[in-house]
Amino acid sequence: YLNYHVPRTRREILEILLKGLLRLEYRGYDSANARSIQLIKQSGKVKALDDELTKQQDMDMDVEFDVHLGIAHTRWATHGAPSPVNSHPQRSDKSNEFIVIHNGIITNYKDLQKFLESKGYEFESETDTETIAKLVKYMYDNRESEDLSFATLVERVTQQLEGAFVLVFKSVHYPGEAVGTRRGGPLLIGVKSDHKLSTDHIPILYRSCKLLGNCSLSNQSRQLFGECFFLGKWELTTSLTWIHCCPGSAVIEHTNRVIFLEDDDVAAVTAGRLTIHRIKRTAGDHPARAIQTLQMELQQIMKGNYSSFMQKEIFEQPESVVNTMRGRVNFNDNTVTLGGLKDHIKEIQRCRRLILIACGTSYHAGVATRQVLEELTELPVMVELASDFLDRNTPVFRDDVCFFISQSGETADSLMALRYCKERGALTVGVTNTVGSSISRETDCGVHINAGPEIGVASTKAYTSQFVALIMFALLMCDDRISMQPRRCEIIQGLRVLPDLIKEVLGLDDEIQRLAAELYQQKSVLIMGRGYHYATCLEGALKIKEITYMHSEGILAGELKHGPLALVDKLMPVIMIIMRDHTYTKCQNALQQVVARAGRPIVICDKDDYETAKSSSRTIKVPHCVDCLQGILSVIPLQLLSFHLAVLRGFDVDCPRNLAKSVTVE
Ligand code: F6R
Repeated sequence: YLNYHVPRTRREILEILLKGLLRLEYRGYDSANARSIQLIKQSGKVKALDDELTKQQDMDMDVEFDVHLGIAHTRWATHGAPSPVNSHPQRSDKSNEFIVIHNGIITNYKDLQKFLESKGYEFESETDTETIAKLVKYMYDNRESEDLSFATLVERVTQQLEGAFVLVFKSVHYPGEAVGTRRGGPLLIGVKSDHKLSTDHIPILYRSCKLLGNCSLSNQSRQLFGECFFLGKWELTTSLTWIHCCPGSAVIEHTNRVIFLEDDDVAAVTAGRLTIHRIKRTAGDHPARAIQTLQMELQQIMKGNYSSFMQKEIFEQPESVVNTMRGRVNFNDNTVTLGGLKDHIKEIQRCRRLILIACGTSYHAGVATRQVLEELTELPVMVELASDFLDRNTPVFRDDVCFFISQSGETADSLMALRYCKERGALTVGVTNTVGSSISRETDCGVHINAGPEIGVASTKAYTSQFVALIMFALLMCDDRISMQPRRCEIIQGLRVLPDLIKEVLGLDDEIQRLAAELYQQKSVLIMGRGYHYATCLEGALKIKEITYMHSEGILAGELKHGPLALVDKLMPVIMIIMRDHTYTKCQNALQQVVARAGRPIVICDKDDYETAKSSSRTIKVPHCVDCLQGILSVIPLQLLSFHLAVLRGFDVDCPRNLAKSVTVE
């Protein structure tokens, strides 16, 4: 943060930094750290850092600074445990000549460390980031000219780095200046000015002027005056034409004007003056960065009457699925329009295979919709975990269409898989909740799910919206197939009533809370189902393990007799999903097998299914809808159950230990 003319006290500067960190805490919160003059670090949550600050007796909080600038960071540990020494900023040396904060992973840090050690540098942390802090000092000490700018120095440092990074630097050698850069991760600059901004874009300064398109721009127009906020953890999502910025909340209370940096941009803020640099201009590069206005509704990032974001997001699902369908599904003439695919749909219809690639919950959305995609497209559909897909060097061909499903649009494994598929000539389609994210920018075309900001680390409404988006795609693929029309109409009419049915399921909340009260002291929960509901089992088990820390396993009921049945006894909590679809009889068999081993299954079933109720120790009755959408209704009781279990076990629902909302490291 930097204000070029209003003096501020240390207290004010620290408050701005801490507030910003608090808003970002769900993105990664192993340790937090702020620096203005002193380096203040703490492991744990931002609150711990705040407490640490109040203990700093020797720091005069009322001292004023004319030029002031601070950097702050919450860390999600990759290299080195969460601890003060590993938290950021990392420093070049004991006198803090250079400090740096970093999101991402430097893959060649061992080589750099070895080199720097050979030059006499001693490392104090276990982080990869520390090599950057030491490298920048090494390059500064060995500079060939005295007037090396901070931006150029940073540019040179990044040329030595491999991996993904978002960096912000500060140095005693460049007082009042901060430099930020990115490669493979997001970096946003919030811009605030007392005056109306005289420009809506910042032209880029190219170091090599040979390729510069417009050399006539005056230096004045290449700079922007005002206060600047770097933000390295954010997500955006659109609803219709509005852009909502969610971790942009860290800047939104100061400004709604932002610049999104591109890979290898180096942005420097010097005494309230922002400049953006690149080494050279290459074909296709835009020579300026636009200043965009975020249309953000503050209540979207507030919990309202809910105790946690996760609970709020579970209860938002009747509206979020409507937002996914808005303007796209016409229930009167049973048509589906997906603007983001319109230029490519013919090519997609001609493809040989669909591959859905994702991680975690987004992967489950692929598993959940695979069957209906196969049915409506009559194409082979593979569903792949991004990391495994890459590990296997999976063959991909030019006539494949590869989908990348990602709430954040920034998940490193999915992004790597996307680049892998592009290199092999496949058409790539993004299904994200995040406009402007790497996945939505790098795919050939895509569908935004428009679920609105998802802040709870455990994904809920994004899952149901991804589910709906993939169904809409399947419907679009067969819109000219006469033989498919009855089935298409059935599904589209199912989508029409879906929001009301979701509301009905949410009405089970009290009943599920009572169930949670019976289960919360258990160590383990098994969740079984098959067909359309296998994904629900995986997703329910993931929700339970990630926020309650109970062991939970999603089991394909067809596999029960091949091993998992051995886990069943009268003590093991078993949840089964049995719906009236083509797997109903087989699910009944599984139910009998569990009961025969003294199991006491809790069954999620259709509300008029009295037969199933007879063999269950308890039932959770959900309304019936068309088979391929039923998974949206069967997952909600499990979302609610995981939420109540976590609350009863005393855990922070929105910030599960060891997890971050957006996993931008491989
Ligand atoms: C689970 C969860 C994660 C994410 C996964 C992929 O509740 O949130 O499993 O689904 O990290 O993230 P995105 O969808 O952002 O690619």
